[in-house]
Amino acid sequence: MACISSETERYSFAAGPAMLPSAVLAQIRDELPDWNRSGFSMLEQPFTTSAFKQLMAETEQDLRTLLSIPQNYRVLFVQGGASAQFGLVPLNLLRPGQSADYLESGHWARKAIVEARRHAPVSVMASGSTQNFTALPAAQDWQCDPNAGYCHITSNETGNGLQLPHFPELSVPLVADMTSDFLTRSVPVERFGLIYASAQKNLGVAGLCLLIVRDDLLQPPQPSLPSALSYAVQAEQQSRFNTPPTFALYVANLMLRWIKYQGGLAAMAAATERKSRRLYACIDHSGLYHCRQPAVDRSKVNVCFELREPRLLSAFLSEAEHVGLHHLAGHAAVGGIRASLYNAMPLAGVDRLVEFMTRFERIHG
Ligand SMILES: Cc1ncc(COP(=O)(O)O)c(C=O)c1O
Repeated sequence: MACISSETERYSFAAGPAMLPSAVLAQIRDELPDWNRSGFSMLEQPFTTSAFKQLMAETEQDLRTLLSIPQNYRVLFVQGGASAQFGLVPLNLLRPGQSADYLESGHWARKAIVEARRHAPVSVMASGSTQNFTALPAAQDWQCDPNAGYCHITSNETGNGLQLPHFPELSVPLVADMTSDFLTRSVPVERFGLIYASAQKNLGVAGLCLLIVRDDLLQPPQPSLPSALSYAVQAEQQSRFNTPPTFALYVANLMLRWIKYQGGLAAMAAATERKSRRLYACIDHSGLYHCRQPAVDRSKVNVCFELREPRLLSAFLSEAEHVGLHHLAGHAAVGGIRASLYNAMPLAGVDRLVEFMTRFERIHG
């Protein structure tokens, strides 16, 4: 978290769980002993009270407003994270015998493919594997089957530092894992059959996964699918078939209010643009740092780069920690350095990182 004094400011560049805005942290701290004058903390609230139902309704309404979610879409709050959705998407959306198309864009898309293949036939419609996932497959090379049950994309590859700049209009339902860039920009929800995202990067804390699903895709669960994991059942029961992740929902509610107060998704997108531009400019003007991703495919939320002198990596990471810049190591499967610039990361954090990188290069480069 960013503390008040500039002497002690610390920034987390972790890929998640991520920093929270200091205003949100302060409100959690203030309300913790007694939420909504109930005499109990948020951690002790039954999800069946009218006050908690109102919090859920408000959270949904804020999401609908921020993302302009059309009326024919349902918003679900579920447990299990995006990784559970990797398997649940085919189980909920495909009819017997149907297959699905996947864009293999990087680490997380590959995980989604492996899980989906446990339940259904999956075709890879385009892959970045030949470039070792340092670039996205060109949109004109996507081989989309018009008979597929859906087409799955990963809007932002958290570990590979790649982000889809646009979303296609397809004849089959478009399904997106938006875990790492959810609420960092506006998206045309009406082009999607399903959007899902874990909350712990841009929408609060771990434990909550958010689904936005077009209502014609909801179908009665196959007998082998537990009811708690059925989108149709959760939609029918307003995400209260079982206990929803109450504390994570409360934090999401505060995060959405914070985003609205900052100016909504236009403000989030502008801030994300400003932060990432500043960091990429530092990398591109340096002789020590190097970014392999082509400019058009670069992620604005997970900036991944390397040192031309890899032996300096551990010095870079430990010296960064000494000056309050934390969790900059790249994804375990990729290596190098990664700076995650989610909504709560202030521009001041990026300035501090750029200042540190410039000084580090002057000394070691
Ligand atoms: C793009 C993407 N998808 C899925 C996941 C997995 O999310 P979870 O750990 O909440 O299941 C992550 C986590 O970092 C991610 O970045």
